[in-house]
Amino acid sequence: MAKRVVLAYSGGLDTSVAVKWLAEESGVEVVAVAVDVGQGGDFEAIRSRALAAGAVESIVVDARAEMAEEFVVPAIAANALYEGKYPLVSALSRPVIVRHLVAEARRHGADSVAHGCTGKGNDQVRFEVGTRALAPDLEILAPARSWGLTREQCVDYAARYGIPIEVTREKLYSIDENLWGRAIECGALEDPWASPPDDIFALTRPVATEPHDLVIGFEAGVPVSLDGRTLPLVDLIAEVGSVVGGYGWGRIDMVENRRVGIKSRETYECPGALAILAAHGDLEDLTLERDLAHEKARLEPRWAELVYDGLWFSPLKEALDAFFATTQRHVTGEVRLSLSAGSCKVSGRRSPVALYDYGLATYDAADTFRHEDAEGFVRLWGLGVATWASKQGEGAAAEHTGSRQVQPSQVQPSQVQPSPQGGD
Ligand code: ARG
Repeated sequence: MAKRVVLAYSGGLDTSVAVKWLAEESGVEVVAVAVDVGQGGDFEAIRSRALAAGAVESIVVDARAEMAEEFVVPAIAANALYEGKYPLVSALSRPVIVRHLVAEARRHGADSVAHGCTGKGNDQVRFEVGTRALAPDLEILAPARSWGLTREQCVDYAARYGIPIEVTREKLYSIDENLWGRAIECGALEDPWASPPDDIFALTRPVATEPHDLVIGFEAGVPVSLDGRTLPLVDLIAEVGSVVGGYGWGRIDMVENRRVGIKSRETYECPGALAILAAHGDLEDLTLERDLAHEKARLEPRWAELVYDGLWFSPLKEALDAFFATTQRHVTGEVRLSLSAGSCKVSGRRSPVALYDYGLATYDAADTFRHEDAEGFVRLWGLGVATWASKQGEGAAAEHTGSRQVQPSQVQPSQVQPSPQGGD
């Protein structure tokens, strides 16, 4: 039986009740750990609330820079969007929290860790698989999965034990927020046909309409500047989010496949993440060699899936990180985003190491492309198809009907000189 447990504490109803519940029902000492991953809130109040709920220790860890630099940077490198849409907001924060839970468990001589997740979501998977990867010896307790309390019973439980929480009896939504965005679930959103009510959004309230340009600078795949101003990553993400979100852009409404087999309707607002990912992907188009870009694109969905599925700490994810890190060496330059009401679009990109070569691309007099090389290249490129066509394709069929068969050697090369107007 566990004796001392480190609980991932949010300051909300469930984890506050969990402090008391663990102490009462399991007789353990609870060390509450609140990890700041950019969700906002009064952390001093959260710290005191855990003590009021019965924790023997209450700790607040500021992990914002760590989350940005060690978790968001690899996600940007991987252009990470689960099912092509969701930038992994919650999935990225859970391994950050796990890392601190395990560190505090060691520091406080705890033999177990606990979380407040229910049995239906992905977050329990991420907490538990992550903990097993870092500390297989620790026991894992999941009180909210076993207590079988309704929300109302939780409120009553808190009242009975004088746990200071500000909640109404009916909570409308389940919200999870960090510096990479905000997830909103439950309530009216459980009907996939129902339009998301406007009042659920906080980061994408339209307040700006005047068109505006924002230039994001990257160095080796990491966003480092805004309009030429160098900024710490946490601040840069927040500023992009607030500027872009002000145009009412960055919302996601999707039906998502959870790891536990449930399809769920999810709404997110991630203005900063989506804008940065769009800019980063565009800069890669300018700076990555074709084969590298195509192979990378094939691996990206796998990375997102692994992280979504709670496998942040796993050998495949680690190996993919090493691959993506190599690809980012020359992803340096600037991307301009053009913002207007409800819209954010890439409108320009430049890089000192761009693989875009004006001389090769232009149809003007500055053209440096060796047009004569194209003839042989195209003929050999199509040689296999020409051979197939002559033996088995329509040309071959024509022979059976008496028409003359066309030999590959007789196929005329296409005109390779550009037309006076140019064009592809
Ligand atoms: N469905 C998203 C995910 O699995 C969001 C989870 C939000 N978590 C929460 N406890 N409300 O990553």
